Amino acid sequence: MSKTYINVLKEGPIGIIQLNRPNALNALNRLMVDEIVEQLEEFNRDDQIRVILLKGNHRAFAAGADIEEMMEDTPLTLEMTDPFAVWDRISLIKKPIIAAVNGFALGGGFELALHCDLIIAAEDAKFGFPEVKLGVMPGAGGTQFLTKAMGRRKALEWIWLGESMSAKEAAHYGVINRVVAPELVEEEAMRLANQLTKQAPISLRLIKEAVYAAEDLPLLEGKKLERKNFYVTFASEDQNEGMQAFKEKRPPSFKGV
Ligand code: CAA
Repeated sequence: MSKTYINVLKEGPIGIIQLNRPNALNALNRLMVDEIVEQLEEFNRDDQIRVILLKGNHRAFAAGADIEEMMEDTPLTLEMTDPFAVWDRISLIKKPIIAAVNGFALGGGFELALHCDLIIAAEDAKFGFPEVKLGVMPGAGGTQFLTKAMGRRKALEWIWLGESMSAKEAAHYGVINRVVAPELVEEEAMRLANQLTKQAPISLRLIKEAVYAAEDLPLLEGKKLERKNFYVTFASEDQNEGMQAFKEKRPPSFKGV
């Protein structure tokens, strides 16, 4: 399956989206972002898909929003078309999303990776928000995600200076999950995705909701939501399967119901 700016494929229960605008280092124009969001939503609805993987190519995950396209904008076109609002739909995807990052993940490219739940990156990957050097600032969630990940002082330093962060630094600050050799990024991301496909899908989705809630809710509210989600798992056949499998000393086989 191919669209204009992305390639889409399914490997068993893993839905893969590859950004495919190599001549512009996968710079994200608006049609491309629409295609990514629509495909994420399609995978989210697809019963066969348990985990989603987002990747670029060896040179770039994505080098940011498309600067040429943005140069045409005025405050009014931005206000009327609200181009970054569509990104909020990524935060509504309930299945795990893994980003496999080689090369540049800058500006909107970094924001796209930060919208994913887990990030695997190459040792030579470069993360950063260079927007300040263009006389603008991150607009698709960068200030929020980075501050939640690394704290206010460090986030300000990186975003103010607009410098690139190595994968090692990003991992050190808890911004990404794992760093591997460039040629192993996809393999590692697929390995992780495969591990997740073995887990109970309903648990994964309720865990995702609870963990994200922890960033926004006061402790007691968050604990209340966690409890409710825990209780909901007992409505699933997978809860029964998981506990029976433990008792019978065999691996569980989860069906997502
Ligand atoms: N938008 C449009 N085109 C881009 C692009 C972008 N963000 N990034 C790279 N390209 C294009 C280049 O114009 C070039 O095209 P041509 O071959 O037609 O000239 C092609 O991709 C290859 O890029 P370079 O020749 O520049 O490659 P390089 O290896 O010398 O440099 C780079 C790589 C350091 C990433 C450099 O391309 C660069 O600085 N890119 C811009 C990064 C940036 O500022 N991103 C933030 C954008 S704003 C944003 O994202 C706002 C937001 O919050 C949503």
